[in-house]
Amino acid sequence: MRYFSKIGNTKKIAEAIAEGAGVPAVSLTDEPLLTERAGVLFLGGAPYANIMAPVLRTYAERLSSEQMGNVTNGEEFFRQARPI
Ligand SMILES: Cc1cc2nc3c(=O)[nH]c(=O)nc-3n(C[C@H](O)[C@H](O)[C@H](O)COP(=O)(O)O)c2cc1C
Repeated sequence: MRYFSKIGNTKKIAEAIAEGAGVPAVSLTDEPLLTERAGVLFLGGAPYANIMAPVLRTYAERLSSEQMGNVTNGEEFFRQARPI
């Protein structure tokens, strides 16, 4: 579970998902690049002024297909998680 949260809402949800999945919730401010392989990567974030936070965009753009199976979008937290 990786997330970017400016004012704390995504952080709370990321921590709940991480607890359920039995994995750590790591903020992109602490780990700016994914350093391990993930079967499923939960990637959490929110829109600010109608755009994705630059730190989240940069992180997503740097992910490689070798590092992960599926990525789930943070906006899908509230619905059923599905691969994008
Ligand atoms: C400066 C700012 C700009 C925002 N702009 C948008 C927006 O354009 N569209 C939207 O749906 N929500 C917008 N929001 C609402 C945030 O996406 C929402 O509060 C979200 O839960 C914040 O996540 P965070 O607590 O993890 O930072 C904005 C919030 C802030 C503080």
